[in-house]
Amino acid sequence: MSDIDVSAADHLLKTTKQVRQRLDLTRPVPAELILECIDVASHAPMGGNQERNRWLVIDDPDLKAAIAEPYQAVGRPYLAAGADSTATARQQRVVDSASYLVEHIAEVPTMVLALRLDRLPETAQNFEVAGYHGSVAPGVWSFQLAARARGLGSAWTTFHLVHEQQVAELLGIPDTVTQIALLPVAYYTGDTFSPAPRRPAEEITYFNRWKNPRS
Ligand SMILES: Cc1cc2nc3c(=O)[nH]c(=O)nc-3n(C[C@H](O)[C@H](O)[C@H](O)COP(=O)(O)O)c2cc1C
Repeated sequence: MSDIDVSAADHLLKTTKQVRQRLDLTRPVPAELILECIDVASHAPMGGNQERNRWLVIDDPDLKAAIAEPYQAVGRPYLAAGADSTATARQQRVVDSASYLVEHIAEVPTMVLALRLDRLPETAQNFEVAGYHGSVAPGVWSFQLAARARGLGSAWTTFHLVHEQQVAELLGIPDTVTQIALLPVAYYTGDTFSPAPRRPAEEITYFNRWKNPRS
């Protein structure tokens, strides 16, 4: 027996979406709520159980506008390239949604920047990259889940990282620290979300040998 309501847990996991067009840009998000989500996220696994993750919460309008600059400089051309005639309807929806966020990123009530205290060497091998990012990503996702449960939408974004240094200087982040993801956070509009279509587990899972289906 488990002490978890499986259907409630699955509902949260399947309906925590990357929210962009349904971010309520008019309603401030209390800092206490963000801290609650970070407390939950801190329970995510990390290699060696080292607490090397940090969070920076940005709600100053001037700083948000300054972060929007590199975000837009990268996001606009990237998304314009993705919106060609070969895009499927599903891809086009993501491009439209991401483009909306590019244009409104400065207006989000709160930005949450997920950080890690060290930097990977340029020559890092896969086991180091896997351990490094695998120690941060679960916490970022837990943050998004905790936020969704509290009525807050968020989106995992990385566009600004092309200009990571510019944002580091703006926010006083030392060069020993790595920026991992920038999450715009706001109350979401509407009541709930529908799960997106995904390939069934049987199609993407092998047993015992590569490409071997379940017998
Ligand atoms: C590592 C990573 C980087 C991403 N970077 C961006 C980004 O810069 N901008 C953006 O709008 N979405 C970004 N996304 C969101 C994906 O595009 C998103 O997962 C996809 O739209 C699926 O949406 P869904 O989770 O709502 O189904 C990123 C997601 C991940 C995991």
